[in-house]
Amino acid sequence: MAGVLAGALALAGCSQQPSATPEKGKSQLMPQPFGKLPDGTAIDLYTLSNGKGMEARIMTYGATLVSLTAPDKTGKYADVVQGMDSVDGYVKGVPYFGATIGRYGNRIGHAQFTLEGQTYHTPKNDGDNTLHGGVQGFDKRVWTARDTGNGVEFTYVSKDGEEGFPGTLTSKVVYSVTPENELRIEYTATTDKPTVLNLTNHSYFNLAGQGEGDILGHEVTILADRFTPVDAGLIPTGELKPVAGTPFDFTKSTAIGARIEQKDQQLIFGKGYDHNWVLNGTGMKKAAEVYEPKTGRVMEVMTDQPGLQFYTGNFLDGKTVGKGGAVYKQHDAFCMEPQKFPNSVNVPEWKEKSNAILRPGETYKQTTIYKFGVVK
Ligand code: BGC
Repeated sequence: MAGVLAGALALAGCSQQPSATPEKGKSQLMPQPFGKLPDGTAIDLYTLSNGKGMEARIMTYGATLVSLTAPDKTGKYADVVQGMDSVDGYVKGVPYFGATIGRYGNRIGHAQFTLEGQTYHTPKNDGDNTLHGGVQGFDKRVWTARDTGNGVEFTYVSKDGEEGFPGTLTSKVVYSVTPENELRIEYTATTDKPTVLNLTNHSYFNLAGQGEGDILGHEVTILADRFTPVDAGLIPTGELKPVAGTPFDFTKSTAIGARIEQKDQQLIFGKGYDHNWVLNGTGMKKAAEVYEPKTGRVMEVMTDQPGLQFYTGNFLDGKTVGKGGAVYKQHDAFCMEPQKFPNSVNVPEWKEKSNAILRPGETYKQTTIYKFGVVK
């Protein structure tokens, strides 16, 4: 069973049957209904299993990771990401729980950029800026799913001009789980005109289990000697600042809560950590490791991206009631979003290290792995 799509019958509290039974020798892909959008569009949920107990469930709305289980030091599995019980909760409004973010992750300053001499305007959905691709970003689009044999591939074709971005952009995201307790997320994209893009996943993790309180005791290591400080609107200033001597130094494992309350201007701007770290090294590399002392769960993040947005759920306000009735309060989860540096499209000096431009004939590629283990 390892590495194949398992039926979604394990969906807690749900007695619905899979919508299709695979023919003998054919794929195991068995989507399960996860509700409907207000316009009647049916949303499907796919369950991936590694055959050892780890399960990931992903829905076609936003190619969103809805749940992810990982074992603790006693072998007990828990769901380690925040989310909602059906698609309705997502439609009513959540801060991007588990979603695929596009066309452009994080912020575009002043909601505009210039590409090949032409200035493009994108929606102002975060003060004066564009956040996570605009008002109707990829998180709010219905993706088409396909069984790849050892994972599920989601495709979304974004029209030329959608949310102000040039070029028809075809994006594909493949999720898979491996016997090594990894969740792999692999992205590709192509365009028919020069465009900009920055895809990522916006899962909100709590390694004690979703709904199990705050993450301030989680211990974090980020393999980055520099970060990108921001202005009051959370737009990077352009500086690559050494973390040494600042509360942003996670080169040695440190509890999230150890310095988060410090009177540091950057922490005040972010209401906690909400910054991009400049990852050491190039190519596929380890970016971060997070350890939760009570359960012993450990998560490693590997990516080929140059940056890692580490966000400590600063804007969670206790108003969202999520899976199983869990109430999500400030700092009840953290995000680690591998990506290009925020606002790269407007910082020419970053072009080499963090190129967010895609041209016809090129293929955008990104791989991110979240790997789970335990320390006993
Ligand atoms: C951003 C935060 C934002 C959050 C929304 C993060 O990626 O950096 O500023 O509030 O997404 O959920």
